[in-house]
Amino acid sequence: MIDIHSHIIYGVDDGPSNITQSLNMIKEAERLGIGVIVASPHYQESVYDAERVEENYQELLYRASDYNVKINMGYEVFANPVNQSLIKNRRKLSLSKSGIILFEFPYNATPQNCIEMVCKFRLQKIIPVIAHIERNRVFMNKFEYFVAFIKAGCYIQLDCASIVGIYGSKIKEFSKKLLQMKFVDVVASNAHCADDYANWYAQAFKNVSNWIGKEEASVLFHDNAKNIIESGNSDDLAYRNILRWERLV
Ligand SMILES: [Fe+2]
Repeated sequence: MIDIHSHIIYGVDDGPSNITQSLNMIKEAERLGIGVIVASPHYQESVYDAERVEENYQELLYRASDYNVKINMGYEVFANPVNQSLIKNRRKLSLSKSGIILFEFPYNATPQNCIEMVCKFRLQKIIPVIAHIERNRVFMNKFEYFVAFIKAGCYIQLDCASIVGIYGSKIKEFSKKLLQMKFVDVVASNAHCADDYANWYAQAFKNVSNWIGKEEASVLFHDNAKNIIESGNSDDLAYRNILRWERLV
């Protein structure tokens, strides 16, 4: 498994507060069969402490060398309109330096805003993966907006917690619907502590397997995540979008 969304670096956001807690997350991830984690601390330009992130990441790499889990660097970037800083730092902010950036929108973001921002990212050749959009209730209630959103050209990442029902039955059902319609590209933990891995990850894989089959579940928990961090290729996204349009007509 490859987990592209995990708050595994201690002391930089609302994830673990010390290195022991970070190592407990790695231990749990290893037990679950996760071979690669892309660390994705929250990124907002105004509160970003680059030195601290780099220091804690290096310390974590050093202390985690006994585990069979590779830790790469990425961010979960709070989606703001495109600015020069984002364009300049696009490679650094992307998942494993792939050029593909994990973005989060506020849960009450309007679909119009989300669609517009994705269009503008694409105009700047920034390929977005959108984190946990299944938790946005406007999209849930107005499916045509969701369709317009993915047509704008983004990858969709679902959270394990949504899939197992931690945020309620409506979000779980919406997640199932998106999975069954093949509108999801990747599933990730969005783990903030070891318990998030222990309690949700395996169950999420089981639910996804029951809903769409084990083979497709493996694509979402591994293959697509691998493609995202290794290729950074906008042609992949274009191809997946064509498949989606074909499904809709
Ligand atoms: Fe997150």
